[in-house]
Amino acid sequence: MGNIIKVQKGTKDILPQEMGLWYKMEDNARRIFTNAGYGEIRTPIFEATELFARGVGDTTDIVNKEMYTFEKSERSLTLRPENTAGVVRSYIENGMHRISAPVKLWYKGPMFRYERPQAGRQRQFHQVGVEMFGIKDSTADAEIIELAVSYLNSLGLNDLEVEINSLGCPECRENFKKTLKEVLKPYYNDLCDDCKTRYEKNPLRLLDCKVESCKNIFEKPEVKSVIQGDFICDECAEHFNELKSYLDVLGIKYTVNKLLVRGLDYYNRTVFEIKSNNLGSQNAVCGGGRYDTLVSNLGGQETPAIGFAMGMERLYSLLEKEDESKLDAFVVSTDKKEALKLVKYLRDNNIKTDFDFNAKKFTKQMEKASKVSKYAVILGEDEISSGKVSVKNLETSEQITVDKTEVISSLK
Ligand code: HAM
Repeated sequence: MGNIIKVQKGTKDILPQEMGLWYKMEDNARRIFTNAGYGEIRTPIFEATELFARGVGDTTDIVNKEMYTFEKSERSLTLRPENTAGVVRSYIENGMHRISAPVKLWYKGPMFRYERPQAGRQRQFHQVGVEMFGIKDSTADAEIIELAVSYLNSLGLNDLEVEINSLGCPECRENFKKTLKEVLKPYYNDLCDDCKTRYEKNPLRLLDCKVESCKNIFEKPEVKSVIQGDFICDECAEHFNELKSYLDVLGIKYTVNKLLVRGLDYYNRTVFEIKSNNLGSQNAVCGGGRYDTLVSNLGGQETPAIGFAMGMERLYSLLEKEDESKLDAFVVSTDKKEALKLVKYLRDNNIKTDFDFNAKKFTKQMEKASKVSKYAVILGEDEISSGKVSVKNLETSEQITVDKTEVISSLK
């Protein structure tokens, strides 16, 4: 016998008994996003490596450390670590700018990041997300955040914290980066190694550092006043203020978190995250924001855009687990032919049904029924001769005998 081969670290099988909640996440996404005018898009799972290097940004952890990259026919390919870059590629390639704005797309599917696995963090995980192209106005930002909250609410998730921030436009951000570097210069040697690199390459990402000694530096009064200060230009400030007023109108509670910078390079202006208080350290169920320069950076026309993605495994861990494995009905009969006919009839009428292929004794079948089903549908000799069936509630032991024609309605 050979060795047993196991599932890879950071990956998981999703088993039949878990599927009910996955269907629910997918069905609600389809219903809610379709109602808001979003069409589903399915892009390939691998793309040219360059798409992510240019799209997500070559100073990000995702591109530097976490990509599954491989070569085929001298081409460098990468399993998608996220889907915004792929959707933008498709938007450009399929000439979607010719469709009158906004172009609204949603997606679901597996993503791949070579991260250190822990609760809520996998190497293969699933995202459901939306992207909207063509609208610069902050009503789009409000719609996107509202859509995320509505979707989460539809799954019964209400204990949520919406955090928002504005990163400003490239111009105001340049000023901020300069000021931030100046105020941090005296502390440069005390920064962690990652932050030393960020200081040179992407100072904004410093704010995202989780290392205690760096966080202490950000608490120094002169540093804090730079971080908490209003660096964004008047136009960006107005865009952000409008968004806040729209969220107020929609009754969406939020907090402004000036440390929220997100781990991908393509964002400008609005960024947001939705956190659940019921998750551990990996508590972000949703992340998103505006990316007005990504379409042109990837060779398309200048097109404002905004979107979000949610981690479905994280959502799953928050959902109320139902026992998905139970059948609606288990047919108990000593007559195999009658059993086969009744099983088919019940299944044809959308009743989740099974029976015992081994057709053991009646009592054995009843035992099995109580383990696997909510109801037993009994076809004993009396029932068969009188054209009736008995329906037994296996939780309460209540039993009624009905005409065969009434079995569906009595089960429902
Ligand atoms: P992200 O913040 O990298 O953004 O990922 C979005 C969500 O995916 C996270 O909030 C988290 O719930 C989930 N997630 C990320 N990494 C993992 C992991 N290793 N294991 C489990 N869940 C994970 C994006 O991906 C952007 N593309 C979102 C976006 C769309 N921005 C604009 N449009």
